[in-house]
Amino acid sequence: MAEQLQDHPLELLSCLQLSAAKALLRYRAPSLAGALQPGQFLNLKIPGYLLRRPMAPASQEGESLELLVFSRGPATLELMGGRREVMALGPLGRPFPLPPPGAGPALLVSGGSGAAPLLFLAARLRAIGVPVLARHGSRDGSEFSLAQRFASLGCSAEYFSEDGSAGTQGRPTDRLPELSGVSCAYAVGPRPLMHQVASACQRAGVPAWISLEEPMACGVGACLSCAVQTAQGQRHACVDGPVFPAAEVVW
Ligand SMILES: Cc1cc2nc3c(=O)[nH]c(=O)nc-3n(C[C@H](O)[C@H](O)[C@H](O)COP(=O)(O)OP(=O)(O)OC[C@H]3O[C@@H](n4cnc5c(N)ncnc54)[C@H](O)[C@@H]3O)c2cc1C
Ligand code: FES
Repeated sequence: MAEQLQDHPLELLSCLQLSAAKALLRYRAPSLAGALQPGQFLNLKIPGYLLRRPMAPASQEGESLELLVFSRGPATLELMGGRREVMALGPLGRPFPLPPPGAGPALLVSGGSGAAPLLFLAARLRAIGVPVLARHGSRDGSEFSLAQRFASLGCSAEYFSEDGSAGTQGRPTDRLPELSGVSCAYAVGPRPLMHQVASACQRAGVPAWISLEEPMACGVGACLSCAVQTAQGQRHACVDGPVFPAAEVVW
């Protein structure tokens, strides 16, 4: 815990603009990167902002990590613009549990910035020999490159856009694949997306995990701003999650 409560500097290495409002930022963070596990998050201190901003890394390699940033307001806009002097508290929260090496295919379903922790997870699953069926969706075609990234990691990847401008028209939860051969599933994105995956997996008896990316402040269980209802009672997404067994969430 002492290590987690330490601020680590993020040194910006590159910024890949995916669209006007989305970017992949690569940072050097030697004191932090190696400790990250998929599903965990960092609480970022950006100069000029009182409250920290949580972000779940999209990859880790050696001393570097990547953040997939969607601009939603002032802080994410600054990050996308290449803001320097960013500090990160972490790794925070519970990671995704991994199936045993060589397990049957894992299903990954993401929407929007939910692709970030699932890209990181996909790389780890491929590294232990688990086949990955990845489905990513967005409103328009601006996130096609994220599906390509899943594919470049060795996943069988499908992309869905609601307006049909790229990939298959529809949502990543439309016509989910046959779940009988799937060993486990993971979903991150809007609540209805996660709920649909959770329900399908429950019916099929497939273990599933989701990440509740609730608005957070402290990130360490002190302010109680991230309360969520689960079958076990009230929990806090920052310390008890953000990853939860899908079957435990009160939807
Ligand atoms: C565990 C966790 C991991 C996250 N990972 C990522 C990530 O990888 N990439 C990414 O782009 N964002 C991620 N987020 C969301 C990110 O923290 C917010 O988008 C960011 O704090 C908004 O800051 P802002 O100043 O730009 O906007 P603000 O002015 O603070 O908010 C702008 C708008 O975004 C909404 N918003 C704020 N927080 C969230 C949230 N958690 N989810 C959905 N909408 C929100 C607000 O309600 C408001 O409408 C994550 C959040 C959590 C809790
Ligand atoms: S963010 Fe403060 S308790 Fe979770």
